[in-house]
Amino acid sequence: MKEDIQHFIKKFKNEPIEVLLAHFLKLYDDRIMLASSLGVEDQVLTDMVLKINPKARIFVLDTGRLHQETYEVMSETRVQYNMNYEVFFPEAKAVENMLNAHGPNLMYESYDNRRLCCTIRKVEPLARALKTCDAWITGLRREQSPARSNHEIIEYDSVHDNVKLNPLIEWTTDQIWEYIKTHDVPYNTLHDNGYPSIGCVPCTRAINRGDDLRAGRWWWEKETQKECGIHFEDGKMVKDTPKDDGLIGGE
Ligand code: ADX
Ligand code: SF4
Repeated sequence: MKEDIQHFIKKFKNEPIEVLLAHFLKLYDDRIMLASSLGVEDQVLTDMVLKINPKARIFVLDTGRLHQETYEVMSETRVQYNMNYEVFFPEAKAVENMLNAHGPNLMYESYDNRRLCCTIRKVEPLARALKTCDAWITGLRREQSPARSNHEIIEYDSVHDNVKLNPLIEWTTDQIWEYIKTHDVPYNTLHDNGYPSIGCVPCTRAINRGDDLRAGRWWWEKETQKECGIHFEDGKMVKDTPKDDGLIGGE
């Protein structure tokens, strides 16, 4: 598959993304999964994949620190599409050890602590999820951040030895919302209240008009480091791997 990626990028270049999704959902069958954070991009993809295959697998990494609004859209989606999510939860012992050692708000104390929390609550459960498949689908978009500008619509994920599809990579925010409204797709109500990007409660806040889309994520850290680690290559950020503790101003 690795060698075929360029071929597939060319093949689907001028096709609607539903064609690409239909091809890969058929090719991989129950060995492909959509990763959903319940954010608006993933709701677009949820609608698309379930219309292609009502039994398509969709997983959620429930970090244990998600917003109530996120659980609400999860419930609503289950009912509207008559589907169920595969939920991957962090290892209880690892969370207990982390909380006993560092307390519940460790993420604000240092970049290393924040990464530890993301590793235990997201990166390790993702690895477990991806062991059950050969390909995964994400809602990544280039517009979201400079760190995401290198991603392609089809990639080889060397960390998980998996094919990674980013069908919305070139979509704009307007295109996303137009799809949501046209197809009556349920969405997280936090999006109506200044949250374009939604992660965990302690690490997400509303942004002001004109701010970057991810300005409300890990807002106390430098721009180049605002990733939880599930989209790194070989454990590193695609660009600008930090050399200091990562706090704004280097304090
Ligand atoms: S993050 O790495 O900063 O948290 P972001 O929230 O922008 O990522 O989401 C990008 C994509 O990563 C989502 O479209 C989704 O495919 C995947 N993703 C992020 N968080 C989760 C999650 N909790 N569960 C499953 N997939 C997720
Ligand atoms: Fe922990 Fe925040 Fe990462 Fe969620 S986003 S796993 S709360 S550090």
